[in-house]
Amino acid sequence: MGTPKRTLVTSALPYANGPLHIGHLAGAYLNADIYVRWLRGIGEEVLFVCGSDEHGAAITVRALKEGMSPKQIVDKYHHLFQSTFAAIGISFDVYDRTSSELHHQTSQDFFRKLYQDGAFIERESEQYFDEEAQSFLADRYIMGTCPRCSNPDAYGDQCERCGSTLSPTELIEPRSTLSGSKPVMRSTRHWYLPLENHETWLREWITDGTIDGVVHHYPADWKNHVLGQCKSWLDAGLQPRAMTRDLDWGVDVPQEIPGSAGKKLYVWMDAPIGYISATRKWANEHGKDWESWWKNPETSIIHFIGKDNIVFHCLIFPAILKAHGGYNLPINVPANQFMNLEGNKISTSRNWAVWVDEFVRDFPGMEDSLRYNMIRNMPEQRDSEFTWKNFQETHNSELVNNLANFVNRVLVLTRKYYNGAVPPADFKDTFLDQDSNQTTIQSWMNDLAGRIRQVDISIRQFSFREAMQQVMEISSVGNQILQINEPWKAIKNDPDSVRPVMFISLQIVVAISRLIRPFLPFTADRLDKFLALDSGKEQDRIKQLLDAIEHKGPLLKSGHQTGDSGHLFDRIPDEVIDEQITRLHGRDATSITSESTEPPFSPQKETIQYDQFTGLDIRSGVIVHGEKVPKADRLLKLEVDLGFERRTIVSGIAEHFSPSEIIGQQVVVLSNLAPRTLKGIESQGMILMASLPDGTLEFILPGSPIPPGCVIS
Ligand code: 2FM
Ligand code: ZN
Repeated sequence: MGTPKRTLVTSALPYANGPLHIGHLAGAYLNADIYVRWLRGIGEEVLFVCGSDEHGAAITVRALKEGMSPKQIVDKYHHLFQSTFAAIGISFDVYDRTSSELHHQTSQDFFRKLYQDGAFIERESEQYFDEEAQSFLADRYIMGTCPRCSNPDAYGDQCERCGSTLSPTELIEPRSTLSGSKPVMRSTRHWYLPLENHETWLREWITDGTIDGVVHHYPADWKNHVLGQCKSWLDAGLQPRAMTRDLDWGVDVPQEIPGSAGKKLYVWMDAPIGYISATRKWANEHGKDWESWWKNPETSIIHFIGKDNIVFHCLIFPAILKAHGGYNLPINVPANQFMNLEGNKISTSRNWAVWVDEFVRDFPGMEDSLRYNMIRNMPEQRDSEFTWKNFQETHNSELVNNLANFVNRVLVLTRKYYNGAVPPADFKDTFLDQDSNQTTIQSWMNDLAGRIRQVDISIRQFSFREAMQQVMEISSVGNQILQINEPWKAIKNDPDSVRPVMFISLQIVVAISRLIRPFLPFTADRLDKFLALDSGKEQDRIKQLLDAIEHKGPLLKSGHQTGDSGHLFDRIPDEVIDEQITRLHGRDATSITSESTEPPFSPQKETIQYDQFTGLDIRSGVIVHGEKVPKADRLLKLEVDLGFERRTIVSGIAEHFSPSEIIGQQVVVLSNLAPRTLKGIESQGMILMASLPDGTLEFILPGSPIPPGCVIS
């Protein structure tokens, strides 16, 4: 199956600021885990690295909220991550943390080299400063009155009541959350990476897949939404990006650099270097050479991430690596979209989540049921949704009725007819296949080899949903073979015909035990036990299966004694699911009342007359084009089809949506709003959006699709 090569797989370093939820799993960990376990099974060399991201405002804000130091916060969540990842079977080769000494050194060495090579530009800018706390203030540390809805507790980057994205200078009566005092503007110097100088090669690399004209990868292998996001950033023109911050918590700018006092590395400079530090840690511990994983062009690097991390992994980190020199760039960045929960976005602050540590506590021994549902609904191309009902259904109908049922029937019948030993079968023996055709064992095994190759193709295309379905299909086919051959009837009058049926069924169970391991590793262990096969190492186990098929020697030989078997999965009853649903909703309500001092609704506006309402021309429309507005973080320039004409509308949603993900989006437009010019672009209308209590924005959608241009009244 292709030439063996070396692959370095990374999963996004999660911020150590809260427990792991199902959105994390489905976004960047399960997919990577399947990929890695499959490659190990095929016999390829692969290294799987990850660790906790322990710097940035995500951490310090949480520390402030929990009344702990940043160090206490990262310790708490780093350890929770380690145990949770292990409990759900994510098989990292190394799980590091960015507060480690080695990581500080590695990222400082990077910064130093870039500084010495003149890769940075230095710039002075004005930022809010707290004179009492003697500290510059990150956006999250400034609060004030929202200019849009008058919420007195809006943050410097966002108003959580009306959902507007803000910049600190827009706040009315700003105050520092550190001391409560009024911050002043003070100038500060930072080192910027001039991304605009990297634009040409980045564009070539992203759109053509070449570096200096030499093929590096095939862009057609990359996901469309990943390419789309990168292109829209490139089209908007890249800007210099500050690589340092005025902070207390983080990696120090190397001391010998003039002006380094009080400066820390920007978290998005240090975090991805965490992949390298983690590799070094692993190499040190195993007496291996870390550089061959990063610098040898024979090694492919694949970054598994969520879609909110695309720009950092596809543009900024590659620019940092290129500026440094000597490093490979990723061969693919198969970002996933988001997984929602019961109709809403997952939200840590609203406690709207299924927490993985709670799940493994509440559902002992059912880790694979969660993995199964996550994989089945993996947001590979578009956002997806987890519901408890669907979790129950997929478990009961697919894991219990299909997989567990097949395995159980085969093992119970083997015990009954042959005292648990694999019956003898030579390869001339025939049975009825799933299409009721007479077939030989070997010809059916060849068919199985074809199926395994299909799974391999799906996995290498990052189509994990499809791959798992292909494996589950083998179990369905096994069930059909039993059903068609009816060994329980034949055993009475034609026992010879039962042997090949049971023999092939047992081979199918072995094949499933091998093929399912990357997806459901705990189930694979149980199957091995049922079959009395040594679970052994993961390495090469799928290769052994293929070799056995191709060299015509069965994996499970005649005479092999199977072990004790039980139920692979038990049904999940309604009460268990109802309890989870009740708990989720209960938690959400309490967290909203206990966490926020303000109700999550903006105050109602003054009463208007009917005429004032009929004066509004509100229409349905469709977004047909979108791009970022240069030098405006929040604005997107959209082309909206109103049926009778197309409009240019500038909308403040850039921090919530990327242009590529909203093409084709139905929208509601206030179409007779007087044109306004924003950043030099005339905006001819306004898109109406809903602001959710957690600060996110959502499009307003009609119950069913309606053509553009319809009047809404
Ligand atoms: O979005 C996040 O959770 C970031 N902590 C991901 C970092 S990925 C990598 F660059 F470290
Ligand atoms: Zn507001």
